[in-house]
Amino acid sequence: MDTQLLDGKKLAQKMQAEMKERVSLLKEKGIIPGLTVILVGEDKASQVYVRNKERQAKQAGINSQVIRLPEETSQVDLIKQVEQLNQDSTVHGILVQLPLPKHIDEQTVLLSIAYEKDVDGFHPMNMGNFFLGNDGALPCTPYGIMKLLAEYDISLEGKRAVVIGRSNIVGKPMAVMLMNEHATVTIAHSRTQDLKALAKQADILVVAIGRGHFITGDDIKEGAVVVDVGMNRNDEGKLIGDVDTESVKGIASYVTPVPGGVGPMTITMLLDQTIQKAEELN
Ligand code: GUN
Repeated sequence: MDTQLLDGKKLAQKMQAEMKERVSLLKEKGIIPGLTVILVGEDKASQVYVRNKERQAKQAGINSQVIRLPEETSQVDLIKQVEQLNQDSTVHGILVQLPLPKHIDEQTVLLSIAYEKDVDGFHPMNMGNFFLGNDGALPCTPYGIMKLLAEYDISLEGKRAVVIGRSNIVGKPMAVMLMNEHATVTIAHSRTQDLKALAKQADILVVAIGRGHFITGDDIKEGAVVVDVGMNRNDEGKLIGDVDTESVKGIASYVTPVPGGVGPMTITMLLDQTIQKAEELN
């Protein structure tokens, strides 16, 4: 079977070109979309993610600002910072980069963000509205994956989808989005018995387990659509996915590469939701 790559980089570029137009229209009305990212501490991966977000936001014409706070910042001080941004009318989107240092309670901080400015879709109000099928910001990674599947006209209706990973920011919302498109969804995780046998039944396999090259060609069904959310470093420091992409080629119908698959879509959806917040002011 010919395996096609789901090119997230290409779709991200296309969407970002459209975003520039949207930002130009807003600027004509005197509105500049503003995104503020708060990064606490020195987490290496987070530093890379935040730099990428800032660069791409600027390219789209968004007024992007990063507030870097030291590791020892108290929860109270972090929340004060968030509350200041909640009040700032030039800021349309607020994102607190996760993970936070251990002494800070993530859920308390996410709850302190004005939910109207939560462009990550992590605020309990937005999570709740999403689960109920109401409007609001969506978690960017699964949202980006849905856009990518739609771009390639991949039909989900009646298909068997297996999501490996149960995190609040990927696995859980991914499962609901696939279900909303009429897939039959199973959520699996590191403690699932016979995990690989289950993976092999999937027409649509989303892998977000955080283990480099965990899924290989032996673990997938002929013709499966394989979505790789993994961002792992191998022994040589190279970025690798949770799927051994080379080994699924010839078996899968589609696979997302790493890098260049899911990653660029996550940032794109963040920018999209930030611009949408500014558009909603009209
Ligand atoms: N950490 C890893 N991914 C994300 C993300 O999409 N948003 C935030 N805020 N933190 C993250």
